[in-house]
Amino acid sequence: MKILICGKGGCGKSSITALLAIELEKRGYKVIVVDNDESNFGLHIQLGMELPKDFVLHFGGKKMVAEKLLKPKEGERSNVFGKGIRASGIPEDYMSKKGGISLLAIGKIRDFGEGCACPFNALSADFLRMLELNKGEFALVDTDAGVEHFGRGVEAGCNLILMVIDPSQESIRLAEKVSKISESAGKPLYYVLNKIDEETARFLLDSVDRNKVVSVIPEDKRVFKNCLVGEALDFELKGIGELADFLERKT
Ligand SMILES: Nc1ncnc2c1ncn2[C@@H]1O[C@H](COP(=O)(O)OP(=O)(O)OP(=O)(O)O)[C@@H](O)[C@H]1O
Ligand SMILES: [Mg+2]
Repeated sequence: MKILICGKGGCGKSSITALLAIELEKRGYKVIVVDNDESNFGLHIQLGMELPKDFVLHFGGKKMVAEKLLKPKEGERSNVFGKGIRASGIPEDYMSKKGGISLLAIGKIRDFGEGCACPFNALSADFLRMLELNKGEFALVDTDAGVEHFGRGVEAGCNLILMVIDPSQESIRLAEKVSKISESAGKPLYYVLNKIDEETARFLLDSVDRNKVVSVIPEDKRVFKNCLVGEALDFELKGIGELADFLERKT
């Protein structure tokens, strides 16, 4: 199952991606984590892994991908993955591995004035569309903040969208927008409430469609501390087990 994780800036997308990947791996699944956030360099640390080489380099770099994927010949839908790709078919150079978790980073913005992230999202969209998973494999896609990735169709290849909602009006409003986008894309959408205490849980459950809420994750100092000192999020956190249970039921 391919799962897209989205939400507003700083809501906890990467933390939840890492916690969930580690939990699923403990349950015996193979997890391919796709780092689709071009401007954030923290996910690999939360996973306790090395940042792999940008996948975009395998296709000649950002400019080349822009030529191939953003300007395909008329009437043709360009696709650099041929008939399909499996996790085992991704060149080793572009994957970090730790136990049953593999990390792939689509591309990072590294230089001043190097241009937009559209080629990364285009590559990601094609990759996710063409990625074939074996039984017992999950793909978790950590996205950049907001909704730009939807504009490039990154969600099209995914089976399910998880939106992380933190206690803020911005998240509540974004939830409405994401709900409309996922409906028109025909993708099931579920919410994960994050950084929650009793009071914020009550307020959020009254503010968003509570039928979509599949997990409530508390604010926990360990997440904050590990992100500060740069350690993996390799501990049990309430709500993550429920989230993994839910995804297991969906497969
Ligand atoms: N459940 C939690 N309890 C406490 N702190 C949390 C929790 N979830 C996330 N955080 C903290 O919130 C901050 C943002 O988390 P994270 O980087 O995962 O968010 P993000 O949505 O991926 O951000 P970005 O939009 O920049 O990619 C980090 O300092 C992290 O430690
Ligand atoms: Mg992030």
